[in-house]
Amino acid sequence: MRLGILTSGGDSPGMNAAVRAAVRGGTDIGLELVGIMHGYEGLIEGDMMPLDNRAVGGILERGGTFLGSARSKEFRVESGQRKALASIERAGLDGLIVIGGNGSLAGARWLQESGVPTVGIPASIDNDVYGTAMAIGVDTALNTVVESLDRIRDTAISHDRAFVVEVMGRSSGYIALMGGLAGGAEVVLVPEFPESLDQIEASVVEGVKKGKHHSIIVVAEGFSPADSPQTEKAAGRIVSDFLAAKGTLETRLTILGHLQRGGSPSAFDRIIACRLGEAAVRVLAQGDSGVMVALSGRDVSTVSLSDIDRPSTNFNPDIYKLINKIAN
Ligand code: F6P
Repeated sequence: MRLGILTSGGDSPGMNAAVRAAVRGGTDIGLELVGIMHGYEGLIEGDMMPLDNRAVGGILERGGTFLGSARSKEFRVESGQRKALASIERAGLDGLIVIGGNGSLAGARWLQESGVPTVGIPASIDNDVYGTAMAIGVDTALNTVVESLDRIRDTAISHDRAFVVEVMGRSSGYIALMGGLAGGAEVVLVPEFPESLDQIEASVVEGVKKGKHHSIIVVAEGFSPADSPQTEKAAGRIVSDFLAAKGTLETRLTILGHLQRGGSPSAFDRIIACRLGEAAVRVLAQGDSGVMVALSGRDVSTVSLSDIDRPSTNFNPDIYKLINKIAN
């Protein structure tokens, strides 16, 4: 059996560890693995290379993805999809493993429906993939956010300032929520709860009344205040400009951006990447496909790729309430 493996969409720490586990787990049971470069772009172009155990040495601890990744526009249109199926045939691939987030897994589902046995592995720092408690890369990104918040708090306290810290999450507030909880944020703003700018200011005032002279406001990039007109401005900029104009505390803005996506994977991400990578080849070898391997409690399970459009249940509103309760 000859299997192709690709990483797609936004990279996340631990993707390399998952490829390594799939290759070594696969060779162990007599499978041949082929790496596809730059996600679906490489699939369309037929840009592939054989992967043996030595080819995936020294990558367990490396962030990013050595296969390269892309958000392929061509794979969304019929001409690109036809080319992809043709190169799968040319390369003699009996199946595919797709490592990525929701968009990439939708591509995996399409391949399965087009007759290519495909298994997905959830990897996205947003943790918004349905059916898995954690996606690969989330834990590392959260640790990066928390470390950043600790550093910002030092300077916020020294200067009696408010800091608005914008974190990733275009449509999911998971990083802001969990990063904010672990980093001791006073206010967390997420797309799921569009608070008004006046409410945000009121939260800062409340902290000051309770004797706190600094404030950390964590904003997900997809947050949009209930009372603010549509604008091109970054979410963090809208909030920080408003708070600065109110003047309760001197206010600064930090946008963490793509540094949240990089870095050596945490122990947790390496562990789930190793487990999910090996599980994916095993599932395909057993003749199963059309599924995503997932983390369910402590166990590895499978979820049908036909379910991946369902909303993830990882964002827990109780955590939002908890943050507000223990903030000041
Ligand atoms: O999906 C992961 C993610 O990091 C989101 O949190 C973020 O909104 C997006 O990717 C950024 O994508 P890009 O790197 O293509 O700008």
